[in-house]
Amino acid sequence: MSADSDALEQLFEEGLQKVYYTEQQLVDALQQMEEEEVSDERVKQAFSEHREETRGHVDRLEEVFESMDASPETKQDRVVDAMIQEHQEFVEQNSDERVLERFDIAAGQKTEHYEIATYGNLTPLAADLGMDDAADRLERNMREEQEALDRLSRISEQFDREQEQQQD
Ligand SMILES: [Fe+2]
Ligand SMILES: [Fe+2]
Repeated sequence: MSADSDALEQLFEEGLQKVYYTEQQLVDALQQMEEEEVSDERVKQAFSEHREETRGHVDRLEEVFESMDASPETKQDRVVDAMIQEHQEFVEQNSDERVLERFDIAAGQKTEHYEIATYGNLTPLAADLGMDDAADRLERNMREEQEALDRLSRISEQFDREQEQQQD
């Protein structure tokens, strides 16, 4: 039995509203981490550049809404809310700068994984619904999330190597 296409379209639109919400939360979260929490230049720069990209993700999502003749609306995503809340709690409890920096790199990696999974679902769904332009835009966002993840993963490895060297 094939799924009702109206229901699939609704599933897609809800997913779009949630990722639109997520991206907006992440613009703020990236700004907070960059400006208030980290001092390592590599990490600062990675957050700052990805914040600009994230603004671009918001714009691309607005183009997707437009292509569907829908007005851009957000729908709360409890997963990203939970990640941000966990983050705030950690920040309040920890004062060691290096530890917070290491935590923030991992927080960044986690959100990139989450975004990749989200776009990884929405992109083929858009294609299935015959929305090729939307699929293309979502895929472009996904590629930038992947690049951001790769960059953070490299920084994280460097970070741990430096830490080991300092302990020798
Ligand atoms: Fe994003
Ligand atoms: Fe991202």
